[in-house]
Amino acid sequence: MLNFNFYNPTHIVFGKDTLQQLNELVPQDARVLVLYGGGSVQRFGTLDKVKGFLEGRAVFEFGGIEPNPKYDTLMKAVEIVKAEKINFLLAVGGGSVMDGTKFVSIASTYEGENAEALFSYGTVPESVAKCLPIGTVVTLPATGSEMNNGGVITSRLGKLAIFSPKAFPVFSILDPELTYTLPATQVANGVVDTFIHTVEQYVTLPTEARFQDRTAEGILQTLIEIGRKTIDEPTDYDARANLVWCATMGLNGLIGAGVPQDWTTHMIGHEITALYGIDHGKTLAVLQPSIWNVRRTQKQAKLLQYAERVWGITEGDADTRINQAIDKTRAFFESLGIGTHLSDYGVKPEGINDIVVALEKHGMTGLSETGDVTLEVSRQILEGAM
Ligand code: NZQ
Ligand code: ZN
Repeated sequence: MLNFNFYNPTHIVFGKDTLQQLNELVPQDARVLVLYGGGSVQRFGTLDKVKGFLEGRAVFEFGGIEPNPKYDTLMKAVEIVKAEKINFLLAVGGGSVMDGTKFVSIASTYEGENAEALFSYGTVPESVAKCLPIGTVVTLPATGSEMNNGGVITSRLGKLAIFSPKAFPVFSILDPELTYTLPATQVANGVVDTFIHTVEQYVTLPTEARFQDRTAEGILQTLIEIGRKTIDEPTDYDARANLVWCATMGLNGLIGAGVPQDWTTHMIGHEITALYGIDHGKTLAVLQPSIWNVRRTQKQAKLLQYAERVWGITEGDADTRINQAIDKTRAFFESLGIGTHLSDYGVKPEGINDIVVALEKHGMTGLSETGDVTLEVSRQILEGAM
């Protein structure tokens, strides 16, 4: 097992009717900015309930954070934070709202002139931006943003990840019932996003990290068990609760501690979303089978472990077993209604070059657990994903 630091201060409040705990979790004297997306929380009544539980505090609102949140939009929220002396941010929504809120938290305590400069840090130190405290109310299980310190923001510089040790939410409320109103395609995106977060920390190189491996396999098997069910029966509480908890545990640092990580799928996926507007989860479903096909030799030991322990594949030579594992993974994503080819989303072979150029521009020239995914390998992966 590799050395690691594991730090996660987020208080999780999970279950039915937990929204009311906002009243204890948000300080009584807080000046709160409630941030949300394009209107689902208004349509389905969550915003009114949130405001009810915050009664007695000075509450301000900022709506309109778009999927794949934009820098320019978020900077408008930063202005409100400064003008109204906000000292607590409450994100009510999915990954885009939570990520956007983290950026607002970082940018509103940054003293430099141009907040776009924050993207050059990757991890923004406390000496550069202190962060305002954040709470979240999760309405879409997928990204794990509710229990990690990262966000992904689109600006003129591209769709880039930003982290800060201070940007962990102080608390996150996970009431699976608040996610019942999601359209089927967003639930499917959430299953795939969680699946890919898990394999990017698991299908790498063996390091005898048995707890992390078994936990990752448990998440993957749970997703396979409940993925289709929670799409078909959105109000089945237990199926949805399992998705919500898997999504959080998939990217809160636990399964990634002490193991190599390979974020190739996400890094190429972010470029595809930035260029073509394809949902985050769908870009991942397109790329993962091709990545495993291209890098089957480097990942052989873990792909065989994945094949056996997650899918029960034990027969045949290594290549046969790996092919079966890739086929089963693709079939699982397709069974959720998610296309697994770039052509399913209207991307033409000529478009591949634009994606490779964007990867180069953002310095994504040595991806993977070993840094051997050069631009040429990325091109091969994209060609295999058509
Ligand atoms: O905007 P509204 O009207 O609220 O509608 C949203 C949005 O259109 C809708 N929605 C959310 N909750 C709903 C609902 N509709 C009905 N009922 C509900 N309960 O769903 C749509 C998609 O929302 P979004 O937040 O964009 O989706 P998701 O949670 O998948 O987040 C995707 C973003 O997270 C980033 C992605 O890159 C992408 O920008 N990621 C963040 C990560 C992190 N912070 O750790 C890691 C991830 O890998 C990912 O990169
Ligand atoms: Zn993701």
